[in-house]
Amino acid sequence: MTKHNIAENAAKQYDYSLLAPGPVNLHPRVRQALSLPMIHHRTPEFDKILARVLLGLKKIFQTEQAVYMHSSTGSGGMESLLVNVLSPGDKVITIVSGKFGERWSQMASAIGAQVIDHNVPWGEAVRSDDIRTLLKQHPDARAVLCQACETSTGVVHPIQELANLIAPLPKTLFLVDAITALGAFHLPMDQWKIDGLVAGSQKALMLPTGLSFVSFSKKAEAFFDQATTPRYYFDIRREKKANSTGETFFSSSVSLVRALDAVLNLIEEQGLPQLFHSIHRRAEATRIFSQKLGFSLYAKTPSDSVTALVVPAGTDGQKIRLYLEENYNITIMGGQDQAKGKIIRIGHMGYIHDEELLRLIECLGKTCQHFMHQSLSDAHIQSVIGEMKSWLETHP
Ligand SMILES: Cc1ncc(COP(=O)(O)O)c(C=O)c1O
Repeated sequence: MTKHNIAENAAKQYDYSLLAPGPVNLHPRVRQALSLPMIHHRTPEFDKILARVLLGLKKIFQTEQAVYMHSSTGSGGMESLLVNVLSPGDKVITIVSGKFGERWSQMASAIGAQVIDHNVPWGEAVRSDDIRTLLKQHPDARAVLCQACETSTGVVHPIQELANLIAPLPKTLFLVDAITALGAFHLPMDQWKIDGLVAGSQKALMLPTGLSFVSFSKKAEAFFDQATTPRYYFDIRREKKANSTGETFFSSSVSLVRALDAVLNLIEEQGLPQLFHSIHRRAEATRIFSQKLGFSLYAKTPSDSVTALVVPAGTDGQKIRLYLEENYNITIMGGQDQAKGKIIRIGHMGYIHDEELLRLIECLGKTCQHFMHQSLSDAHIQSVIGEMKSWLETHP
């Protein structure tokens, strides 16, 4: 493959690149698992798979606690964390640093919690000192809600620092939305003393959308019976009972669970540290080489799971996103709300080859060239790609 035809060659290999921060490209073994004939979820065959995945998930959560599955998107899992430990009127501190912080704040309000929003400028991480002060002002707070990675800005928050503040408080729980974090970088639930953790299937767990996963610390479990928020589908006590007899309470998403089994095998084969490393490496390559094309980093503390890039002056993020899709069959995401048009977001989770990453950077360069009226030369783009290729080779 010469420097000049990477895009063309890669295009033959990859008809379509889904490089969004979820959903993501699926591994061939996952696609194979998804195509198997349907079986019933009340069968010995499925019971074995269920037992395996419930055990395997604990390794990804890095917990000794049970992990539960809901047939819902990630937001359902966020709601599950809230309804199982909160009662109407409970005070919660919500860290709002983007769209998903806003969502959790709205959700907590909807179930009757007294919500104290702590707004953080988009692109920045929360300062744990600010939360220390808030906790002193509100010693009766039942929970602090935070994203591990705020996907709308690409920011990673200081989860361990926050957990250290909250863990000693006997009545306050730390609930973390790890939907674009769990499986993408180190987030050991037990070691860091996180009380509630939620993940979604379509992100680092490399599955289609449709499953959410939640786990609660022992401290959080003590609130299951005290919490008076009305709940039925997400009542974890029912699921806990069913899981203890090797079943799920509701019908299981058999295909997704079988695909999850395949993903957990893939992760087991390489090990969590290697999975984190491969995602970090893609993020690093994207951060380094996109900047050489005139992009800059939006997040002050960038996450490895998603890179948010401020687009070069004179270009529009929405147009770049559309052009990439229409001309190169690559899907990335644009910015939302206040970041709309200003940024693009590239996901690093899922099944991504180096050639695909190189092609993305090359096509991003060509897209900018198109909108910047040739002020970015072909020679420059090709030299960036050449450099990136060497970087990838020397950083396995
Ligand atoms: C951090 C975060 N929280 C929550 C969600 C919502 O997940 P879902 O769309 O699966 O409900 C997302 C989805 O992108 C997310 O990135």
